[in-house]
Amino acid sequence: MENSAGYLVPFLRDGISVLDVGCGPGTITVEIGARVGDGRVVGVDSAAGVVGEAVRLAAERGAGNVAFEVADVGALPFPDGAFDVVHAHQVLQHVSDPVAALREMRRVARRGGIVAVRDADYGGMIWHPRPPEMEPWRDLYTAVAREAGGEPDAGRRLVSWARQAGFTDVTPSASIWCFATPQDRAWWSASWGGRMVRSDIADRVVAAGHATRADLDRVHAGWTAWAAADDGWFAVPHGEILCRT
Ligand SMILES: C[S@@+](CC[C@H](N)C(=O)[O-])C[C@H]1O[C@@H](n2cnc3c(N)ncnc32)[C@H](O)[C@@H]1O
Repeated sequence: MENSAGYLVPFLRDGISVLDVGCGPGTITVEIGARVGDGRVVGVDSAAGVVGEAVRLAAERGAGNVAFEVADVGALPFPDGAFDVVHAHQVLQHVSDPVAALREMRRVARRGGIVAVRDADYGGMIWHPRPPEMEPWRDLYTAVAREAGGEPDAGRRLVSWARQAGFTDVTPSASIWCFATPQDRAWWSASWGGRMVRSDIADRVVAAGHATRADLDRVHAGWTAWAAADDGWFAVPHGEILCRT
């Protein structure tokens, strides 16, 4: 919660209901559950596999007030006004119509409730040092993310999308992930370097002809070199919006 939804923490209270849209493996969802006492939290995700992971995590943590189901943000299976807070972290960047997604999130939030969204902004990411082999990673990722209908520079657009969705009371903010300790560099490098060689992203990069497997191996080596640098530093800016319904 602290590093990914700190802007929402002051609004979580005992007894409220929260919907976590695009909950992924449920790590944030379960932490929200720990902050709402005898309230209830529902996590939904369009990918059945991660919903299974989330169900297992909630069972391991004994999170009895958290439930999960498979659902798409474009058609949430809940009545109007069903939740006090509707939250999405790192989700709108992946959907082809983020304005429609925000309208649907507002529909299931109660009048006077909150829709809270946070997304990274790839174009704003900065890092040091810059091993030349690593350089292509961002262009390759943004190319395939856009080909899939997403918008990797989502953070800067959240306020615009909220206004287009009809929200009039929007509180914008921004926050940054920083990967600079040896442990954080190793984790971030394994995450992104790994995705550049073994993931659906790598497969799509190759299938679209943006790079070869050998090119991606070099990008991976660049990430490894960045993580090994004692002065390695990487910042990931995020846009955040708190929308009153
Ligand atoms: C980067 S993950 C974020 C997971 C989680 N919110 C977190 O921050 O740890 C994005 C998630 O959004 C989900 N997602 C993408 N498009 C979606 C959609 N149209 N409806 C619901 N979930 C979606 C993906 O399946 C994935 O689990």
